[in-house]
Amino acid sequence: MPDSSNRPSLARNVISGIGLIVALISLANIIFLVVADLTGAHNPYVGILAYAVVPAFLVSGIALFFIGMLVERRRRHKVAPDEIERYPSLDLNVPHVRRLAIVWAFGSFFFIIISLLGSYRMYEYTDSDQFCGLVCHKVMHPEYTAYKQSPHARVGCVGCHVGAGAGWYVRSKMSGAYQVYSVLARKYPQPIPSPVENLRPSRETCEQCHWPEKFFGAQLKVFTHFGYDEQNTPREIRMLIKTGGGSPQGGLVAGIHWHMFNMNEIQYLASDRQRQKIEWVRMRNRRTNQATEYKAQDSKLTDAQIAAAPKRTMDCIDCHNRPTHIYVPPDRAIDREILAGRIDRTLPFIKQQAVEALSADYKTTPDALNGIDKSIRTYYSTKQPAVWNSKRAAVETAIKMVQNVTQNTRFPEMNVDWRTHPDNIGHFYFIGCFRCHDDQHTSKAGKTIPKDCHICHDVLGEQQAGNIMFEVPKNEFQHPVDLGDMRAVSCTDCHTGKPM
Ligand code: HEC
Ligand code: HEC
Ligand code: HEC
Ligand code: HEC
Ligand code: HEC
Ligand code: HEC
Repeated sequence: MPDSSNRPSLARNVISGIGLIVALISLANIIFLVVADLTGAHNPYVGILAYAVVPAFLVSGIALFFIGMLVERRRRHKVAPDEIERYPSLDLNVPHVRRLAIVWAFGSFFFIIISLLGSYRMYEYTDSDQFCGLVCHKVMHPEYTAYKQSPHARVGCVGCHVGAGAGWYVRSKMSGAYQVYSVLARKYPQPIPSPVENLRPSRETCEQCHWPEKFFGAQLKVFTHFGYDEQNTPREIRMLIKTGGGSPQGGLVAGIHWHMFNMNEIQYLASDRQRQKIEWVRMRNRRTNQATEYKAQDSKLTDAQIAAAPKRTMDCIDCHNRPTHIYVPPDRAIDREILAGRIDRTLPFIKQQAVEALSADYKTTPDALNGIDKSIRTYYSTKQPAVWNSKRAAVETAIKMVQNVTQNTRFPEMNVDWRTHPDNIGHFYFIGCFRCHDDQHTSKAGKTIPKDCHICHDVLGEQQAGNIMFEVPKNEFQHPVDLGDMRAVSCTDCHTGKPM
């Protein structure tokens, strides 16, 4: 068999050449990007390039190099069938081969170390808020913006969406990989739908930081509203919300978090994706195994259909579904601006005008900014000339503040606002607790899930039309307009977040 060792190396071919060039360029890029990343470049794309995209090129370059050799070997074999190309022989007695082998060994060693570091950085990086919130900038813009304004702004996305342990890491990265693909292919839904199907059970994530035994007995909360009248009349409600707390061992098991004590299991069946229409509820005491089933009086489901359908077991996010991505309704957002003094309360009808401008429908954010400016400016310059002349600066500030609010709470490009993502805490703008607590979910024995205004809170004080009432009759909420029996009405019929 003729010796081929004097013939040009198998690596001398176009494919291997391209592979080598790709690998070298990638290597240079990786070094540059890693230095940029370590020296604190604050661009979310640096990480994804340095630890995912360019290394992929590097590996394909190396692969191409070897594929080229294989192809070349085949080609030579075809041309001269009896000349078998030999792979390079490793004779360590030959000095230059020895040197090459040492360089090769060191090179591989460093390559492995660098890849390990790279993978670790990649792992860290795909868990960062930057990666989650900014890489898919347009898509996650609403979630990221709302998160930045929320009480959990300092809790990483993965704190709630992934949690500790390898199992959920892999599961969430698998669904994440699909999300990256759907973004690239522009297949993503707008808005991103909630509830999130593969969210880790919240008891495993939220309870790293909050646990039922630690909850308070009750929480004093003050709600401040401003009326839609000329004076923007302030109305204040001071309320003791019976959050509940203690541990079953300590004997204190009452209040709102009662749903969450381990011995209680509440399962329900909803007929819509967002779990707003609840058809059937069952509460079971895990210790005594006593159970009560409640069915919505207007439910069209038969008992057989209910028995066959998959149920959901209630956990934290059945109430706290908006702990961080909170899309504040316009009515509440403007109340907050006025309360904080960012919008001047002495401007007549400012609450009404601001909410109207904010809640109108716009196609894009620039449209919204223009629309808000035009709507408020036109109103004061034509309908309130005296105010326009004397308080021009306050009107200009109000316009800016409303524009600010729209950028933080409404995202027309993704079709996201308060209407697409209801908040289940309370019952004022969204049905929330009244999904079950509506006096309409009835058991066979005629018991209902109660809507009694006292089970969840007591009103300690109220301010109506400037008169502060510290003694509220029976600690019951006094509605500004007489509605008769409050238990018979549904707040969301009138309070929608838009102007009254
Ligand atoms: C305090 C916990 C928490 C943190 C921190 C958090 N999320 Fe969420 N996220 C949730 C919950 C709860 C839901 C809603 C689940 C549901 O309704 O099923 C959600 C829903 C979402 C959705 C679906 C759309 C929606 O608005 O419901 C996206 C997208 C999302 N989160 C992205 C992020 C990103 C990006 C970050 C970090 C910038 C982040 N989340 C941080 C708890 C959190
Ligand atoms: C990594 C820790 C951490 C995790 C995980 C976490 N939280 Fe929190 N949460 C906090 C901190 C810290 C605060 C207090 C923020 C403050 O006082 O402004 C808070 C505040 C809250 C509040 C009170 C909000 C308010 O308006 O004052 C609620 C409700 C809450 N968390 C619910 C949840 C739920 C539900 C989850 C799971 C989806 C969750 N948290 C996951 C750390 C966490
Ligand atoms: C039945 C609905 C419901 C469930 C289920 C629920 N919560 Fe709450 N939680 C509330 C309400 C209502 C409040 C009062 C907050 C308010 O009015 O803004 C509250 C308050 C809180 C607060 C702030 C309490 C304080 O005293 O400062 C935290 C933290 C919290 N919940 C965490 C959790 C966690 C963690 C879980 C799951 C183990 C959970 N909640 C399950 C309804 C619920
Ligand atoms: C999925 C249905 C469902 C939802 C949603 C729901 N609850 Fe309940 N809740 C129940 C059931 C069932 C009971 C037990 C009623 C009974 O038989 O006494 C209950 C009982 C209670 C109790 C009385 C606990 C005790 O001390 O006996 C309070 C307080 C309460 N809920 C508050 C709330 C609040 C606040 C919300 C909204 C944030 C809410 N619930 C949402 C189903 C629900
Ligand atoms: C199942 C529990 C539950 C029942 C029953 C209930 N509420 Fe509430 N309510 C809440 C919770 C929780 C909040 C606090 C929401 C929040 O923190 O945003 C609230 C808030 C309120 C507020 C303040 C709303 C705001 O944003 O200013 C009023 C007023 C109120 N409730 C009146 C009533 C009246 C009147 C009834 C009787 C028909 C009633 N509630 C029955 C749970 C309940
Ligand atoms: C039939 C319509 C209607 C229903 C139903 C209704 N409200 Fe109202 N509500 C009003 C009107 C009108 C005002 C006065 C608005 C104004 O003049 O600024 C008001 C004012 C309020 C205010 C004072 C804050 C504000 O925005 O001015 C609170 C708080 C309130 N309602 C709570 C509730 C609660 C809680 C429920 C459900 C138990 C409820 N309302 C049901 C019509 C309604």
